[in-house]
Parts: sequence; C-alpha cells; structure tokens
Amino acid sequence: MQKGISPEVKDSHDEYAEEYDSLAKQYEYHFQEIIFGLVFEYIDSGDKLLDLGIGTGLSSSLFKKAGLDIYGLDNSEIMLNICRKKNITRNLKLFDLKKGTLPYDDHLFDHVIAVGLLHFFEDLEMFFRESHRILKKRGTFSFTVQDSKTRISTTFDEEYEVLFCGHSDEYIEELIQKNNFKLLKRLKFLEFKDLSKKDYLHFKAYVLMKC
Ligand SMILES: C[S@@+](CC[C@H](N)C(=O)[O-])C[C@H]1O[C@@H](n2cnc3c(N)ncnc32)[C@H](O)[C@@H]1O
Repeated sequence: MQKGISPEVKDSHDEYAEEYDSLAKQYEYHFQEIIFGLVFEYIDSGDKLLDLGIGTGLSSSLFKKAGLDIYGLDNSEIMLNICRKKNITRNLKLFDLKKGTLPYDDHLFDHVIAVGLLHFFEDLEMFFRESHRILKKRGTFSFTVQDSKTRISTTFDEEYEVLFCGHSDEYIEELIQKNNFKLLKRLKFLEFKDLSKKDYLHFKAYVLMKC
C-alpha cells in the first residue's frame, strides 16, 4: 500500500494516518501477516520486539497478541497517536529513521521488524548495522523490500509525488554478509499497485538471524 506516503515529508505520513487502516483493508495489505507467519517459529511470549516504522500498529498487533513486549518508532505523530489508542504498547518514540543510529542500547531486543518501510529508503546500511547492534545474539531481523532487478532502483510516482526504492537480492545478500546476519527465510509476494487492482508490485519478505 503506497498511496501518498512520502519518504521525505513528514506531514505526508501524518496526512494519511487517519485513513491508513481503512486503506490497508482496501489495498488488501497483508505484509504484517506475512512477516508474522515467517517469524512465528522464532518467537516466544515475553520476547522484546522493536517495530521500525510501526505506523498505526498493524505490523505489531499479531506479535502483541502472541504475548511479545512491543517497542515502536515512527516519524508520524498522528500514526503514533492512533497506535497508542490500540494499547499495543506504551513504548513508542517519535523518531526519524534517517538519523544514523537507533535510540536503544546494545543487545536489547529479541526481534526487530521493518514492515512496509524499507522501500522509502535508498541506502539500507543503517538498518542492518543498527539492528545487529541492538539485537541479542540469535535475535531475528525481519523486513519487506520492494524487489528490484538492479542493485537499488528508484521510481518517482507522479500521481502521488513519492519516490519508491527497490532493492535486489544481491544488495540484500551483501548487507547480510557485511553485517553478520544469516539468511533464514526469503519469500516473494505481490501487492496491488493501486486501487484499480489491475497491476502488481513485487515485494520480498526476509527473515535473518544475528550470528
Ligand atoms: C507503509 S507504512 C507501514 C506501517 C506499518 N509498519 C505497517 O506495516 O502497517 C510506513 C511507515 O513508515 C513510517 N516512516 C516512513 N519514513 C520514516 C522515517 N524516515 N522515520 C520514521 N518512520 C518513517 C511512516 O510514518 C509509516 O508509518
């Protein structure tokens, strides 16, 4: 689901926050179930999970239901306010992920997720380096990326004036190796491009383990 969410302009995230959950239904957005299903065998009730770009909490709600202790970051205050009302967690921070580090101590989390987020960023190095730092040993880092045949591709969506970034398997594999992760799972899936539902975008979900 990509309508109107800009990587650059914080106001834009705020602008669509109120209708985000309803748009997710209309787009038949299931990124959160895909990530939850793939990671399920590695989670335990009571584990600490950090959700990068938690939004309204869709990506964390199943983990909450499974008894995990949720932490979330987002740069949209309105998204965070909606998330807060769902009682998924009180550990929410207004934070811009374009900063070079994450505001947490080393080895704090059992799991880090980034669901429907990384296609707003060209360079993913920070996400791998920082997730590795804040994860416990054998912790998981799970995320979705828009698929790309070239290493990093960018597409400007004229209708919504948003830049979307795609990342190739090779690029992700380089980051996995460089940042000392092990690939556990990789799954390709499709997402409707717009509400006409005539065309699809290609995404991949990854589950990694910190070595
Ligand atoms: C498509 S939504 C996904 C939300 C949630 N993870 C889900 O699966 O429903 C992308 C989220 O990333 C957040 N986001 C985008 N760029 C960000 C940035 N630079 N810093 C923090 N959050 C950002 C947006 O505010 C939005 O909540």
